[in-house]
Amino acid sequence: MAISPPVANHLLRLLQCKIRNVQTTQSSDTDLLHYYNSAAATRHHSASRTFAERNRCKNKFRPARMEAFHLAGLCSVDPDPIYLDYNATTPLAPGVIDAMLPYLREHFGNPSSRHVYGRRAHDAIERARSEVAALIGGDADEIIFTSGGTEANNLAIRGTTARSSRRRVVTSTVEHPATAHPLTWLEQQGWDIVRVGVDAAGRARVPELEAAITSATALVTIMHSNNETGVLQPVREAVHFARRAGACVHTDAAQSVGKVPIDVRAVDVDLLSIAGHKLYGPKGIGALYVRRGTGLEALTLGAGHERGLRPGTENVASIVGLGAACAIAQHDLDKERMRVRALRDRLWEQLAQAIPHLSLNGSVENRLPNTLNVRFPQVSGEALLAATPEIAASTGSACHEGGESASAVLLAMGIPAEAALGSIRLTLGRATSEPAVDRAAAALTRAWRTLATE
Ligand SMILES: Cc1ncc(COP(=O)(O)O)c(C=O)c1O
Repeated sequence: MAISPPVANHLLRLLQCKIRNVQTTQSSDTDLLHYYNSAAATRHHSASRTFAERNRCKNKFRPARMEAFHLAGLCSVDPDPIYLDYNATTPLAPGVIDAMLPYLREHFGNPSSRHVYGRRAHDAIERARSEVAALIGGDADEIIFTSGGTEANNLAIRGTTARSSRRRVVTSTVEHPATAHPLTWLEQQGWDIVRVGVDAAGRARVPELEAAITSATALVTIMHSNNETGVLQPVREAVHFARRAGACVHTDAAQSVGKVPIDVRAVDVDLLSIAGHKLYGPKGIGALYVRRGTGLEALTLGAGHERGLRPGTENVASIVGLGAACAIAQHDLDKERMRVRALRDRLWEQLAQAIPHLSLNGSVENRLPNTLNVRFPQVSGEALLAATPEIAASTGSACHEGGESASAVLLAMGIPAEAALGSIRLTLGRATSEPAVDRAAAALTRAWRTLATE
């Protein structure tokens, strides 16, 4: 049985949705089961039999995932679609790999050791610390390495509130789960968490921020830019109100660092989170900028690494990679953000010309240069992406058993659920070229026309 790439892609997405919810073909999706079984039976008898056997077993997760990959192979889905998901993650920059390799091969020493092996690793970490600090305008001794953006946010939020006698945190309604979830945890401990709403452009409302930040506020945590819409948040304003109230300020800059210039002294924040894999560095590494003098408690207890704030033997190669990623980003920042912005706008113009009533989600001006979140009329974003195997992008919607739910960020902006479901996020990066943008626009337009006229 032949399955066309768009159908195969659609099936893959459905399977992936099911996997996330630990659901398999025992659910009501009989079409999927039919397609799946026919494809597997025709192309690969044993795969089909194995699946049938596995489907009876209690572990529903693994077989579905394996079969999704199998189906992808069977149906020859384009293995290299145009990558437009740079806000999800970025590939390692070649210079980052080169910098890391010696620390994966010969320089294996423990940075705490006093002999030459240890010293080499230690010196490399300190070089990386300076490179990270230089990109954001801080000092090297203000950088704490973490396992990524999530840990940096947790350390900032839980580490500062643990020290405070106040009981309020002010934040926005569009924060990443790496901020929102630690705050929910604090709320369960009795903290007063004030979530300031955003306007139609996706920006936290400044008058509400001002009203919320009082002398009861221990911490203001507001993201630097939103991961879905790219909208830059009013961090400077938050700092202004926080200073007046004597509160601490944290910003989750995981999406901004390396994409737009950031100067921690000019913005005047106390804490700022960085995620390595968003700026062509390794996954599983990040950093927290902690302004000198900021009271912070460690979340994990152990030896004295990272000034006792993040104990545990350092991930030397990844730290070196993060340092290299920051140095490269700093060198190329101005040129690259202009280039990417022009490509992003070209993509938007081509789509807007071809698709009537296409809308942009979020502020036109106050936005990361690489991010385009667009709302297509009459279609679901998931279906559109499934019908466009030529590109790899994402929606902010979530799949679950009852179907699809719209992105919480778009809903917070006041976009009706049905319209929000028609949105996709297209995020560009270093490998994005003009021809790729043109092909992506043409492919999306073709797919939209097919779906909208069905
Ligand atoms: C805004 C934002 N904050 C935090 C994170 C989490 O970073 P990490 O994946 O390094 O834990 C992400 C990742 O998507 C993000 O977009």
